[in-house]
Amino acid sequence: MAKHTIGWLPGDGIGVDVLDAASIVLERLELDAEYVHGDIGWDFWCREGDALPARTIELLREVDAALFGAITSKPTKAAEAELVGELRGTGLTYRSPIVRMRQLFDLYVCLRPCRSYPGNPLNYRHPIDLVVFRENTEDLYAGVEFSPVPAELADTLGRLSRNFAAFSRCGADEFAISCKINTRRGSERIVRAAFEYAQRHGRRKVTVVHKANVVRATDGLFLDEAREVARGFPGIEMDEANVDAITMWLLKNPDNYDVLVAPNLYGDIVSDLCAQMVGGLGFGCSGNIGETLAVFEPTHGSAPKYAGQHKVNPIATILAVKMMLDWLEETEKASALERAVAEVIADGRVRTYDMGGAATTLDMARAVADRITIKARA
Ligand code: IPM
Ligand code: MG
Repeated sequence: MAKHTIGWLPGDGIGVDVLDAASIVLERLELDAEYVHGDIGWDFWCREGDALPARTIELLREVDAALFGAITSKPTKAAEAELVGELRGTGLTYRSPIVRMRQLFDLYVCLRPCRSYPGNPLNYRHPIDLVVFRENTEDLYAGVEFSPVPAELADTLGRLSRNFAAFSRCGADEFAISCKINTRRGSERIVRAAFEYAQRHGRRKVTVVHKANVVRATDGLFLDEAREVARGFPGIEMDEANVDAITMWLLKNPDNYDVLVAPNLYGDIVSDLCAQMVGGLGFGCSGNIGETLAVFEPTHGSAPKYAGQHKVNPIATILAVKMMLDWLEETEKASALERAVAEVIADGRVRTYDMGGAATTLDMARAVADRITIKARA
């Protein structure tokens, strides 16, 4: 039996292309693993009404980790229109499979390292070495939403909140409500994960991102929990920043930041900003990590217009593979892979279109694979 069982979830669009690239580097690394293909993506929504079929959920219960490519998603009406005839009008609603996986498997840590590699023409500045910890299961992603708003809910809110008066005359269809739900447990554990990471990796500072001056209840709770956790890590500086301000400060003084931790939506936004500072879509990698399962992915979408062309930059996915190897405690292979990526970027001869070159997805993967040298075990 192989040492590791890995769920292989290409999805659709360029998800398939970048996982082809991942196979090339994994093969070169000779990882002792069995790869199990899982059905996931837009086609399964159209044909079965479920982009994350139950059989794939079962498969994920059996694997040690999974590698996920990307999935197309469309607004509600467009999604409904693409369902096969017999599923149309049956009340099915499309929900993002990655968000579902995060919630179903309690993958509460979204880890997004953003490191600039020397020689990348897309670097905003060098060096940048930021790590974003994004809460991954709650907040505005809780999925508790109302459109139209039921009268019962509007009545209750009218009774409980004076501020609701401003909306109380809206008809059910004239407004919508999305609940931001943050728990003490959820906030505590993501901040703890960020501090523990900082401690393990010799990082000096953790910046807590919030908007507690306005969003007092939920972000206030997040900040309270963060302060409490920080007390347990006296060797690490704790810093607090409003989410709006930090987007400016990050661009102005990226060196002032190190590890960042944020509730789900702010983490989503801030991690895109950080990814852009180290090269953008082709470089943003992500780990969705729980206690027993972790799903690794590039943060880019499925870019249907490039599907199957092997045009896009696979480095984000290759770096996601590196993160997966770390999670599987294959640290030598993880380091070897990151070194190979850094060397190819520094060398500059193989560049995909986003980097100003003409190399294909597979050229880039092969260039990285060719550079992999695994240090002999001591
Ligand atoms: C991400 C993406 C997802 C998110 C989308 C695809 C649902 O933007 O992983 O950052 O919002 O979390
Ligand atoms: Mg995002």
